[in-house]
Amino acid sequence: MEKGLMFDESFILKLKEKFYFVDEDDVYGERLFFDNSGGSLRLKKCVESKAELECLPDCPERTHQKAKDLKKVVVAGTEDILKIIFGAKSGALVTELTASQTMFQMIKIIMETEGGDNVVVSSLEHPSAFDAVEFYAKKTGRELRVIPADKVTGGINVEDVVKLVDKNTKLVSVMGASNVTGRIINVKEIAKRVREINPDIYVVCDMVQHAPHSKIDVEDLGVDCANFAPYKFFGVRGCGFGYVSDRVAKLPHHKLIAKDEKVFELGTPSPGNFSATLEIINYVCEIGEEFIGKTSREDAYNEGMRRIHLQERALLNRLLEGSEEVEGLRHIDKVKVHVDDKDLTKRDLIVAMGIEGIDYSDLVKEYEKRNIIVCDRVRSSMYAKRIIEAIGIGGAIRVSPLHCHSAKDIDKFLKVTKEIASSL
Ligand SMILES: Cc1ncc(COP(=O)(O)O)c(C=O)c1O
Repeated sequence: MEKGLMFDESFILKLKEKFYFVDEDDVYGERLFFDNSGGSLRLKKCVESKAELECLPDCPERTHQKAKDLKKVVVAGTEDILKIIFGAKSGALVTELTASQTMFQMIKIIMETEGGDNVVVSSLEHPSAFDAVEFYAKKTGRELRVIPADKVTGGINVEDVVKLVDKNTKLVSVMGASNVTGRIINVKEIAKRVREINPDIYVVCDMVQHAPHSKIDVEDLGVDCANFAPYKFFGVRGCGFGYVSDRVAKLPHHKLIAKDEKVFELGTPSPGNFSATLEIINYVCEIGEEFIGKTSREDAYNEGMRRIHLQERALLNRLLEGSEEVEGLRHIDKVKVHVDDKDLTKRDLIVAMGIEGIDYSDLVKEYEKRNIIVCDRVRSSMYAKRIIEAIGIGGAIRVSPLHCHSAKDIDKFLKVTKEIASSL
């Protein structure tokens, strides 16, 4: 399994059918969409079910049947997101318009309580986590400590986290996987080791980039908070979801006073956001059942995510190594794969790369001319600057296919890459 396990071609075609615009743009025609880290291909059922429920005027709080139907969707969505997507046995769901908002909200709740004089955040974090930690560190007068990146792997080393943590560390924030390099971070070991130093520490984990690639299990990881964005996870824009442990749910937070401590939503939630997210779960379950047959929803989802992870690892291997037909990125003259760890089990399907002799923004345009969408992560971007400096690279283009892509799609990308590199 070190090199993954590819779905067969006919199964990939079946999966492609379930998404909009996998092989072509609605206006500009044929294209390869390899910018799924910026917003993933959309499942038709997610969009349709959201649209369907948005047509209804009924308030889910009323007692007539239609209202009850809508309420059921919100309740089922809340339960399934917590239990199945986050793998939580307890805790509460935080709902906001974006994943960034959930992160600010969760960090605020923790940081506005007493205790501790420092906080620790990784240099790889997306600004939503990094800036939230910095903002509340300043506001509450706590020292901000930044974990350096490992310039070889593009990840975070457990020992570098441990060095910064002491008995007075209030919170540690580390992400599940890097949105620039795809490096998976050993969050479980980090949570375990920092609690040996300070059992009261809060561990916060941005799962936005890891969630579409692998099963999240907050219980196994031992984190107090985690989040994901449905629009990067085959779903829809307009919502972000966070998990908080019972310990965090008990802390003072914004809510209507009469409501239970586990209710974080303010106002009427959109049932359409929940139905769309339930459709993400249904889709992953269908993949799981293809391999292990009818089973519990939880087991089907876990198997589905495991298969997605293996399929993506096989695609990553093909992207890096190529095949008899076409050279992989590691072998094409002038191509540089950044922080290219040989161990694919520590990587999600995101590659940071460049080609000698062309700057990153121009390279993105060269791909676009050839109907391939990728994105650049460069110093001039406030989203990328700190991260690429921490990894020690000048910049990168980020290549992020999805599990529903095939070996043929990867080969097409490699042929175009070779063509661009040879033209320089
Ligand atoms: C790792 C990571 N965290 C958080 C976010 C923010 O997500 P949102 O745009 O939903 O706030 C992103 C978006 O790119 C991301 O890549």
